[in-house]
Amino acid sequence: MFEDLKTVDPEVFASIKKELNRQREHIELIASENFAPLAVLEAQGSVLTNKYAEGYPKARWYGGCEFIDQVEDLARERVMKLFSAEFANVQPHSGTQANMAVMMAVLKPGDPILAMDLACGGHLSHGHPLNFSGKFYKVIAYGVNKETECIDYDEIEKLALEHKPKMIIAGASAYPRIIDSKKFRQIADKVGAYLLVDMAHFAGLVAAKIHPNPCEYAEFVTSTTHKTLRGPRAGFILARKEFGKKINTAVFPGTQGGPLMHVIAAKAVAFGLALKEEFVTYQHQVASNAKHFAKLMQEKGFRIVSKGTDNHLFLVDLRSKDISGKEASHLLEGVNITVNKNLIPFDPKPPAVASGIRIGTPAITTRGIKEEGISKIAGFINLAIENRNNTKELDKIKSEVLEFTNKFPLYSQIK
Ligand SMILES: Cc1ncc(COP(=O)(O)O)c(C=O)c1O
Repeated sequence: MFEDLKTVDPEVFASIKKELNRQREHIELIASENFAPLAVLEAQGSVLTNKYAEGYPKARWYGGCEFIDQVEDLARERVMKLFSAEFANVQPHSGTQANMAVMMAVLKPGDPILAMDLACGGHLSHGHPLNFSGKFYKVIAYGVNKETECIDYDEIEKLALEHKPKMIIAGASAYPRIIDSKKFRQIADKVGAYLLVDMAHFAGLVAAKIHPNPCEYAEFVTSTTHKTLRGPRAGFILARKEFGKKINTAVFPGTQGGPLMHVIAAKAVAFGLALKEEFVTYQHQVASNAKHFAKLMQEKGFRIVSKGTDNHLFLVDLRSKDISGKEASHLLEGVNITVNKNLIPFDPKPPAVASGIRIGTPAITTRGIKEEGISKIAGFINLAIENRNNTKELDKIKSEVLEFTNKFPLYSQIK
């Protein structure tokens, strides 16, 4: 009953071990991923998973919640401090569920929402037809300007005046520039719309005060905790105080049952760490690594969408190299470099093929990689793409990547 995983389930144990090795031996460039600190993993793997705690601190449906309440209070207090927010709900199991709860709190089925098109960098939970958001609400999509490949605030204002959305959603999964929450607020005010800023990707940069804080402008701010914030896989909601009760009801019982208290404990740890000076230094390095990386790729003849980046990610248009995003991500996987294929704005290729790849620096920066290492990685990518049909050269690149990753130990405390 209380034997360890290796003894009870050698199959699952073996897969986890292999995944740990994969993470150690690959250069992780997926922009939405990171390596959670050991303390976060420890909290997430704790006995708190055993506890049912439907409700909120001091108002639970179950007994025995004294210590659970302490954990959730810590998570709420810390995240409110981190983002200078008036209210927080730390129970959403994921970013999508955080968005769902906000929409359920203040919208009715059929209400119009104005959000960024997935094809231009938006997220599924902002109105994709197969997602709840696209099924329950009438979605009007905005994109980016064809020339600048940046958000076109004039177009958003035009669409808002025409369609009178009840909610405007800002935030994206593949947008390399600063999102101007102040401009979104001004547009929302012109049509009496709520503003939801989904900062899932750039929350770490906001926490470090590198990006403007959307809580100053939006009624609702949602986020995940596992990307730049470097916490467990989960979500949370920040809001103006007057919406607190509605948000709480929309999360529980509206869209979720019992909270995952072990994950909330891990969120509390991550928020605590994000309040420290080291986290600010880390975020500055994430942003400077991304800038350096994009510049190097440009110098190697790759086209960078919007000509660069202000955050932790950038998009590479591969058309000049005559390779698709799908082919490139497969090729790079073969030399232990992990990226994802990504549509570029106005992509002529379908999403499953795509003309681009998305590159992010949060995970490699956690491993301690700085500008010098970035130059090496950009070199590996370029060489692999140039030698895509040369197996011998690709094998050589893979062994150099392995040598490189060995220099940046990951989870050395885990045997
Ligand atoms: C902008 C944005 N919002 C929400 C999410 C959803 O997060 P989750 O996968 O936790 O549902 C993502 C995930 O990539 C995202 O990029």
